[in-house]
Amino acid sequence: MGQLGNIPSSWNTDSEAFILVSEHRPNLEPNLEADDIPVINLAPFFDVIGVEAEGENWSAIGAVVEHSKDPALRSLVAEIGNACAEWGFFQVVDHKISPELLRKVMEAAKGFFSLPLEEKKKIGRSFDQHLGYNDSELTKNTRDWKEIFDWARLGFMEMPESVDSENRSGRYSNTTLKSYNQWPAKPDGFREACETYTEAVVHLSGLLLGLISVSLGLPFDILHQYFDKDNTIRARLNHYPHCPLANMVCGVNRHIDSGALTVLAQDSVGGLQVKRKDGQWVAVKPREDAFVVNVGAILQVWSNDKYRGVEHRVSVNERKERFSIPVFYDPSIKTDVFPLPQLLDEEHPAQYQSYNWGFFRRTRNNGNFKQLGENIQIHHYRI
Ligand code: OGA
Ligand code: NI
Repeated sequence: MGQLGNIPSSWNTDSEAFILVSEHRPNLEPNLEADDIPVINLAPFFDVIGVEAEGENWSAIGAVVEHSKDPALRSLVAEIGNACAEWGFFQVVDHKISPELLRKVMEAAKGFFSLPLEEKKKIGRSFDQHLGYNDSELTKNTRDWKEIFDWARLGFMEMPESVDSENRSGRYSNTTLKSYNQWPAKPDGFREACETYTEAVVHLSGLLLGLISVSLGLPFDILHQYFDKDNTIRARLNHYPHCPLANMVCGVNRHIDSGALTVLAQDSVGGLQVKRKDGQWVAVKPREDAFVVNVGAILQVWSNDKYRGVEHRVSVNERKERFSIPVFYDPSIKTDVFPLPQLLDEEHPAQYQSYNWGFFRRTRNNGNFKQLGENIQIHHYRI
């Protein structure tokens, strides 16, 4: 199937739904020489921790990190803290994830998205089925020029069955609904490539969460309780087909990831743009040996604004298709999110009221399918 065949046919007839008001159109020639997001080498961490880093005994790893006086490790922690505070984004290299795993999952993504649309739609997402294929996601109420495939690390996603989106202080009824992973019959090896990849990236995310906690002056393992058993960790294959309207649409419209951390692999095409503190959009230089890490809204609240979830978007390309694979490292739906008490004092009062992640996630998810007006955002909980 040729490249044009990759564009779902409905996109041609619905093309108006993708077009952004001029103010929010992407800059297709962002300055690649501009100050770029930090690239952080994780080798000093692995050098100090050794094989222990392959396991998930977070408190044992934490004891070593917190007590080590190794200058390279201390400066790595400081770099991570600085990147989270100044950029909300960084890339990591020397992360110990093999290029072979990444190559396999990228191949799987290419194979899957080149299947006929009817095949992909057999495992389609819907209002109550949160996992599988979707070619009509909305971000900020505009269609994204992308098709996606989502799966959950646990094999299912549990969500509140319903939410009262009008009542933002609301929790949710105790009834929950599980959606299960939907795997396509083809291409061969698809599921295994996706699952093996997720385990590796989830492990890396756990290590990064610990380093970020230490950079806030907190114990390494203070936050893992929200992720280790129940969680809403989800991975996604993004396919951004080439696009004749590249200067008027986005692959993903500007947004802040609503969860805790996102760890993303991308191919060499480029298109991810990040809003710098001064308001300029800058391109993230693609590096095939790196993962892009960004702070989500939950980490912003936990850190009481010390670290910022930063707006980002994806531009598409007139000639080239692009693939990216984010893992959304998100906690259990039971998690009530609030500024960590250890970071609060008279000079640093809490900036947010507590909110429930399950309620937030379900409300946001509904907005991916229906135009519900303004999406729920953490600023609604600002004190
Ligand atoms: C996302 C996202 C960026 C990319 O899926 O939330 O921001 O480069 N993706 O695909
Ligand atoms: Ni994002």
